[in-house]
Amino acid sequence: MLVNATEMLKKAKAEGYAVAQININNLEWTKAVLLTAEELKSPVILGVSEGAGKYMCGYKTVAAMVKAMIEELGITVPVALHLDHGSYEGAKKCIEAGFSSVMFDGSHYPIDENVQKTTEIVELAHSLGISVEAEVGSIGGEEDGVVGRGEVADANECKMIADLGIDFLAAGIGNIHGKYPANWQGLDFEALEAIKNATEGMPLVLHGGTGIPADMIKKAISLGVAKINVNTECQLSFAAATREYVEAGKDLQGKGYDPRKLLAPGFEAIKGTVKEKLELFGSVGKA
Ligand code: 13P
Repeated sequence: MLVNATEMLKKAKAEGYAVAQININNLEWTKAVLLTAEELKSPVILGVSEGAGKYMCGYKTVAAMVKAMIEELGITVPVALHLDHGSYEGAKKCIEAGFSSVMFDGSHYPIDENVQKTTEIVELAHSLGISVEAEVGSIGGEEDGVVGRGEVADANECKMIADLGIDFLAAGIGNIHGKYPANWQGLDFEALEAIKNATEGMPLVLHGGTGIPADMIKKAISLGVAKINVNTECQLSFAAATREYVEAGKDLQGKGYDPRKLLAPGFEAIKGTVKEKLELFGSVGKA
């Protein structure tokens, strides 16, 4: 069932768990995430970066694929199709293309411009029942060409953006896209607490979910995080399983070169990673 992400995140926040946003890259990724969420009776958010949207032949293709797959696979759990780190133009395109949720990432603009552009996106998206995520402070590292310096968000600026009627807020708290470096200082829980207090009841989003230790995930959820984004970890598990298959020479045995066989270990590996995350985030059985 394709829905926006508002109700699923309100419920998650009220009940003390987080919904996973798993980023998708192709048909196999999408199918793996949808089937795992259905098996575990968990809500899920499919994240699409602008780069991945382009790779999958545009947002209309993605929306059509996801809607058809939900129907053909008989997916009954709530699924949101969400633009990840959208530009102003990208968010508008996804709203037109039939996404049920968008992130407008105006964190690199001066706060007044972030406020103005977020306001416009909220107005447009809400008129069509589409949920909106906004961002303050930037997520460190790089994801599909979006580079962040990793500033910790200012609680007052978070309040300004939260008051615009957005549905959930991403705030930089020392989190990073991609693998965490060995000298990473960990999440800034003081900042998270200040943001939680300033934004009263707003579901918060933790980006850079790959590689955050379980105890930090649990603490972040206890401090108001209701959505956690995971991208790199599925890429790593897909790549490792595919490598193992090829290195074992299995593509050279029989019809092992058939893409349905060649991509199967990677597909199963994504399912395994998604299962781990849904269990860790506490959303199993919450659909
Ligand atoms: P990771 O790639 O570090 O899991 O981050 C995903 C993310 O935050 C998507 O916006």
